[in-house]
Amino acid sequence: MLRSTLLAAARNQGARKLVESTPLTRPVVERFVAGDDVDAAIRATAEVLGDGRLVTLDHLGEDTFEESQANDTVEAYLTLLARLESYGLTNGAEVSVKLSAVGQSLPIDGEKIALENARRICSAAAVVGTTVTLDMEDHTTTDSTLGILRELRVDFPWVGAVLQAYLRRTEQDCRDLAYSGSRVRLCKGAYQEPASVAYQDKHDVDLSYVRCLKVLMEGDGYPMVASHDPRLIAIAADLASARSKDSYEFQMLYGIRPEEQRRIAAEGNRMRVYVPYGDEWYGYFMRRLAERPANVAFFVRSLLTK
Ligand code: FDA
Repeated sequence: MLRSTLLAAARNQGARKLVESTPLTRPVVERFVAGDDVDAAIRATAEVLGDGRLVTLDHLGEDTFEESQANDTVEAYLTLLARLESYGLTNGAEVSVKLSAVGQSLPIDGEKIALENARRICSAAAVVGTTVTLDMEDHTTTDSTLGILRELRVDFPWVGAVLQAYLRRTEQDCRDLAYSGSRVRLCKGAYQEPASVAYQDKHDVDLSYVRCLKVLMEGDGYPMVASHDPRLIAIAADLASARSKDSYEFQMLYGIRPEEQRRIAAEGNRMRVYVPYGDEWYGYFMRRLAERPANVAFFVRSLLTK
């Protein structure tokens, strides 16, 4: 109930104004978001890389309905990639891109514009020697995102995809993408989805995650295990025991279970942290609150105690 209310609020402009105008929201947001600008992103990247973890950076933004805003997002990624290169950070840091932030949801030619914009980001990433992963948004965008992924992979075979275990279709998508060179980030899924397309019960989502993991670990691609769930991480480690440590990786979000991130990295695993930055934090922040009731309590407490 609380989860669906928060996920509905994540796409509600009234709720957005209310949450954004509360100055006391800020300290809670800072737990999950590295900062407002590229300088903050670079600082967080250097810190995470400093203790042996890897990074994927997300310039926050989604559901862009203006072409100029989509262009601004592309420019922000180009600036970010240039800065990563100038600080010598491209070895451990890549970028993650939401296609809705670069035009996918524009009413006219959205898909075409998103493809061209994503291509510009991929070209810049290729120049500085790093990679791009396409985030996955709600299920109405899955086919379009996988279509754009296919197009991008013709020129940039290293472009990564995200698949969401809560979708009933995902086990088959894993089979389709478990080929050599294919980077697949498997997560549970963070949007509000109907029962017709997504498992609603947490246990069913976990079972689907394990089935998908098996497909990816037995396949020829590069699985990226994106979860903070200790049981799924243990199962992934077990399934990966026949693989070399550099043929898969673990991933977690900035600000969530950082000690566990360091522990996994210290055991010789590739551990990548998803680092979001920018001032369009609202939707991302609300999804993080929805994932864990304790975050809401933490948020409310911080409002009450100031
Ligand atoms: P689960 O939610 O069951 O959490 C397991 C445990 O982790 C909790 O008990 C708690 O200890 C901790 N935890 C989890 N979430 C927390 C939070 N918000 N605050 C504090 N503790 C928390 N989704 C999507 O739909 N599209 C995408 O592109 C991506 N991309 C992505 C990249 C990466 C690197 C990660 C790690 C995750 C995503 N996600 C995503 C989000 C994902 O779908 C999912 O919502 C979250 O990872 C939470 O699910 P868990 O697997 O962590 O399990």
